[in-house]
Amino acid sequence: MPDSTVADIQRCVAGLRIADLDTTLGEAGARIEVRAAEEAIEVAVHLGFPAAGIRADIETAVTAAVRAAVPSVPTVRASVDWAIVARSPQGGLTPLPGVRNIIAVASGKGGVGKSTTSANLALALAAEGARVGLLDADVYGPSQPTMLGISGRQPESRDGKTFEPLVAHGIETMSVGFLVDDSQAMIWRGPMVTQVVTQLTFQTAWHDLDYLVVDLPPGTGDTQLTLSQKVPVAGVVIVTTPQQVAMQVARRGLKMFEKVDVPLLGIVENMSSFVCPKCSHEEPLFGAGGGADLAAECGIPLLGAIPLDRTIRAQTDAGRPPVVADPQGVLAQRYRQVARRTAAALARRPADQKHKFPRIVVERAR
Ligand SMILES: Nc1ncnc2c1ncn2[C@@H]1O[C@H](COP(=O)(O)OP(=O)(O)O)[C@@H](O)[C@H]1O
Ligand SMILES: [Mg+2]
Repeated sequence: MPDSTVADIQRCVAGLRIADLDTTLGEAGARIEVRAAEEAIEVAVHLGFPAAGIRADIETAVTAAVRAAVPSVPTVRASVDWAIVARSPQGGLTPLPGVRNIIAVASGKGGVGKSTTSANLALALAAEGARVGLLDADVYGPSQPTMLGISGRQPESRDGKTFEPLVAHGIETMSVGFLVDDSQAMIWRGPMVTQVVTQLTFQTAWHDLDYLVVDLPPGTGDTQLTLSQKVPVAGVVIVTTPQQVAMQVARRGLKMFEKVDVPLLGIVENMSSFVCPKCSHEEPLFGAGGGADLAAECGIPLLGAIPLDRTIRAQTDAGRPPVVADPQGVLAQRYRQVARRTAAALARRPADQKHKFPRIVVERAR
């Protein structure tokens, strides 16, 4: 096959718009390989983020586009795969051992659904084909032991230095809720919070994770400060509800991360509309378009909108979030789209080159 044909096919595939991601394959950073096989063209699309939920759709779209572009070739075979690499965290911090990318989930206000979003986002990233962990960094009100259905369990230590994360629904997790009871956590002061958060992060033996999702407490307090100064965060997702007040506070949270150079990946609008349990009618209870406006104002993507649906509360609070309780359902599909878009936004960030190679120590000859 002439080089010009290969280049034409690559250009045609790179220009394909993937509605789910709201970008073209080229903009999403896809690497496109074209091979001529006997009587066929093979097109391999290599992504930097997991996309199991839309893999078949992309393959179909690529096949159709290449067939249309090169009608003389009888067979076109398309394949999609992905490899997830570490993206540069803020301030040149070194990525955590065993974790390629930390994604923090933050908001200004409590009760907007950060923990619910974190749990479903983590499970959805796993469903899309990544190795995932979920760190519960809310030391005053840990929710993840309950949301993942494993409260009361205790992590073990094999080496006396690090804790083994617990595993729930296929993801690794750690929470202060596994280590102390609730009444103890309530009396911690600033330095203690910093110490607990750093210990949970650095002294858990995470195993080869593509993403570690961190569920933050509300506000811009000690945990956020610790995270932005000591923990290598690849990106932050901001959760907001559409009300004006919630968005004002979300904006403050967002500015804080901007100031410390932690990359903002986008906004998830939670409780964006109310789904009537009787007739399934969707009503924008708190006003429409708030998340989109905030995203546009800050120049970051709206990663998705999750309805106020009592199924989400019931399933998540019962330890089986929608992504695992009803994997084919519309709620799981919405969370999986949020996961793909979050991971795709992260894949557009520069790869971490600094820590890719082992450190070479040059010793002077004596
Ligand atoms: N989209 C939603 N639809 C229905 N209930 C929700 C939704 N998101 C969160 N909730 C519920 O709202 C409550 C607060 O959510 P949570 O995730 O704990 O908030 P935060 O971590 O921001 O304080 C929980 O009971 C949760 O089940
Ligand atoms: Mg919470």
